Amino acid sequence: MELKRAVGESLNNFKEHVEVVLAKAIADLESEQPAASVKDRVDLSLPGVIRPTGSHHLIRQVFQEVEDIFFSIGFSIVEGPEIETPYYNFEALNIPEFHPVRDDMDTFYLELPKGAPGPLLLRTHTSPVQIHTMEKRQPPVRVIVPGKVYRRDNPDATHSFMFHQVEGLAVDNDITFCDFKGTIDYFVRKFFGEAVKTRYRPSYFPFTEPSVEFDVSCIFCGGSGTAQSGGTCGKCKGAGWIELFGAGMVDPAVYGFVNYDPKKVSGFAFGMGIDRLAMLKYGIDDIQVFFQNDVRFLKQFP
Ligand code: DAH
Repeated sequence: MELKRAVGESLNNFKEHVEVVLAKAIADLESEQPAASVKDRVDLSLPGVIRPTGSHHLIRQVFQEVEDIFFSIGFSIVEGPEIETPYYNFEALNIPEFHPVRDDMDTFYLELPKGAPGPLLLRTHTSPVQIHTMEKRQPPVRVIVPGKVYRRDNPDATHSFMFHQVEGLAVDNDITFCDFKGTIDYFVRKFFGEAVKTRYRPSYFPFTEPSVEFDVSCIFCGGSGTAQSGGTCGKCKGAGWIELFGAGMVDPAVYGFVNYDPKKVSGFAFGMGIDRLAMLKYGIDDIQVFFQNDVRFLKQFP
């Protein structure tokens, strides 16, 4: 009985308290000035707040552009590891130990704990992904491989110890040098515009035979070799041509490493430097700007 009274009393107190608070809140609300219109409260002539938005790095944009072009003609995109064994980076690409081209690709080797299996290295090119791909798939193979590569180069306007490549590989029963030229020509016209001319010069890579160095007519002087000012074009040094990348028909020796029958299959491969493509297309003189992340540079490529 006593408990009932005590509880009733405190409930009554609580009810009174709520009524008082509520009445005050209503009174406050009613006495307030009617809300001023938006126009009176906000100065509509003030400039708005522009929120900064990020964008893809130019290198990523160029990767995307290259990927889109090859994707549109039936290539798929694959990736591979940046840490490699000498087998994938060299041997299976027909570059045995002591082959002189290993000197051109001054390699970073990983320091490994004692007893760990090795050696391991940072890939010097995206070509090892050709081997990984052919090990896993049977022809027809049509892939491009975007990625980072590493070389012990001293940084300057055209060298960096890390840069970017896109590898290409097409292997099937009946792929010819004509297919190769058609594909590459299509790519550069899409990338640099229909007006560019192309040229193939004999070259050498251990993993292609025949090998070519692929040139385009100078994008800056239109291939004339003469700058607008009348002097020699500084970009192609008057030659009218600019070297773009290396390529060729896959050397039959490479098929031996992946158990393809060189009598039944043929194909082409290419490896292009993305930094170089970006520099040519956007008139950039110094590769280092890609790695400095200076917003004043990045902002120019929204
Ligand atoms: N891997 C070569 C390099 O980094 C570029 C290259 C040349 C790749 C010819 C290829 C090729 O696939 O066929 O210098």
